[in-house]
Amino acid sequence: MDQLTAAPVPSPRPAGAGPAISMSRLEKWFNAGNRPVHALSPTDLEVADGELLVLLGPSGCGKTTLLRMIGGLLEPTSGKLAIEGRDLWNAGQRQGEALGELGMVFQDASLFPWLNVEENIALPLELRGMSKSSRLARARELTRLVGISGFEGRWPKELSGGMRQRAAIARALSYDPKILLMDEPFGALDAMTRDAMNLELQNIWIKTRKTIVLVTHSITEAVFLADRVVLLSPRPGRIDTIVDVPIQRPRSLDVQAQPEFQAIARQLRHRLMEIS
Ligand SMILES: Nc1ncnc2c1ncn2[C@@H]1O[C@H](COP(=O)(O)OP(=O)(O)OP(=O)(O)O)[C@@H](O)[C@H]1O
Ligand SMILES: [Mg+2]
Repeated sequence: MDQLTAAPVPSPRPAGAGPAISMSRLEKWFNAGNRPVHALSPTDLEVADGELLVLLGPSGCGKTTLLRMIGGLLEPTSGKLAIEGRDLWNAGQRQGEALGELGMVFQDASLFPWLNVEENIALPLELRGMSKSSRLARARELTRLVGISGFEGRWPKELSGGMRQRAAIARALSYDPKILLMDEPFGALDAMTRDAMNLELQNIWIKTRKTIVLVTHSITEAVFLADRVVLLSPRPGRIDTIVDVPIQRPRSLDVQAQPEFQAIARQLRHRLMEIS
């Protein structure tokens, strides 16, 4: 794994670049039996190009709903949603160009058990028609990036949970999407592996400068990773508070002991208790 340099990392938001994700009055209703559920009330939010934005909030506040709408897996009930300046939905149809900018990682790595690591990582490239030699070369480049070099030929069941998540991240990055969407990607991991994955994700983000939207239940993970934390409140789901995290990168795990980090975490914890 590459060492991080000690030099401060410049701001991820180039002046003048449009937002990577832009939503306006984005809203979602579900029909649960005969009872309509207002999962997300009309929401305005922009995610800057290269930003690492974290969605935090109590269970049922609409984090997954919002992420799945951004990922094109769920159609909004109303409102506008643009990816890299292009509308994601048009007359009920997902727009392929906007969709191609998005990669997704879920809590459960969801690797295909009948494919080995490099075949899993290369699968999206196969679906896009890339030649076998090119896609396997790309898979090897990605195993290096996410720190599982040497495990290309292993089966998913032979990997630890953290390694499976690394492979899932590599797969989501395979076709070089501009935006990575992650729904509690480290929620099922033990605390130490989770810390390691937080460092690894920071490392990947610094190297690739993807725009990342990550959902988590962990305040510590949120503050450690984020440029901004968006706190959602439930019934109906809505943005409650947006908190900036102006802590220099790269961040080490020791940053969690700093007063600045603790003040932001405390602010989020108090508000989370009030709205839960
Ligand atoms: N397919 C669905 N049909 C009906 N209701 C749904 C559906 N998906 C989500 N909901 C409801 O929408 C609301 C938001 O759910 P969502 O899964 O987005 O919450 P969440 O913030 O991701 O929660 P968690 O932290 O538990 O993952 C909840 O009230 C949920 O029950
Ligand atoms: Mg969820």
